[in-house]
Amino acid sequence: KRVAILISGGGSNMVRLVEEMQAGRIDGAPVLVLSNRPQAAGLQRAAALNVPTQALDHKSFPDRAAFDAALHDALTAAQPDIVCLAGFMRILTPEFTAKWEGKMLNIHPSLLPLFRGLHTHRQALEAGVTVHGCTVHGVTAALDDGPIHGQAVVPVHPNDTEADLAARVLVEEHKLYPAVLAALCAGRTPHIAQSGAFPEA
Ligand code: GRF
Repeated sequence: KRVAILISGGGSNMVRLVEEMQAGRIDGAPVLVLSNRPQAAGLQRAAALNVPTQALDHKSFPDRAAFDAALHDALTAAQPDIVCLAGFMRILTPEFTAKWEGKMLNIHPSLLPLFRGLHTHRQALEAGVTVHGCTVHGVTAALDDGPIHGQAVVPVHPNDTEADLAARVLVEEHKLYPAVLAALCAGRTPHIAQSGAFPEA
């Protein structure tokens, strides 16, 4: 399967997906890493892994629809079978998501449907939950909605800071996203439940 990955920052999830494909543990080929931020460190990391990269600076477009149209054209040129949003910090228009529905995945750092949107770890701490985690889901017009393909759960410790929680969740993201993509590339519909970092019972 041809896999395109969209990033906005460090791209740690992208790196894991690319590494697993290049190691042959995911039956996929990374055909493009695209960022809406030209300065995203993930672009250099993708280039170092010999993956074609593209920057599409959202600030050089008059509005969201214009950016999404250029993004659609860039993706169409790469002809991906699957598009992975990985730390991609743009809200996509319904017109765009409709064109890629069924082919587009996202990883969100919460146990959806809890804590949609931004600052999910702060939301979790403020809610006082004792478990938290991340979700890989199909992208639909509604934000952080869509069919759930996999989730990973971690404990929340009483004195956790936002950074502590983010780091614990990120470790699980780096395992969950490759597992979901591997299943999809193998033609399976994933339904993955993963747990990490629980104290011994
Ligand atoms: C992280 O906060 C992660 O939880 C979320 O996107 C952010 C950046 O991830 N998925 P990455 O390192 O750019 O993949």
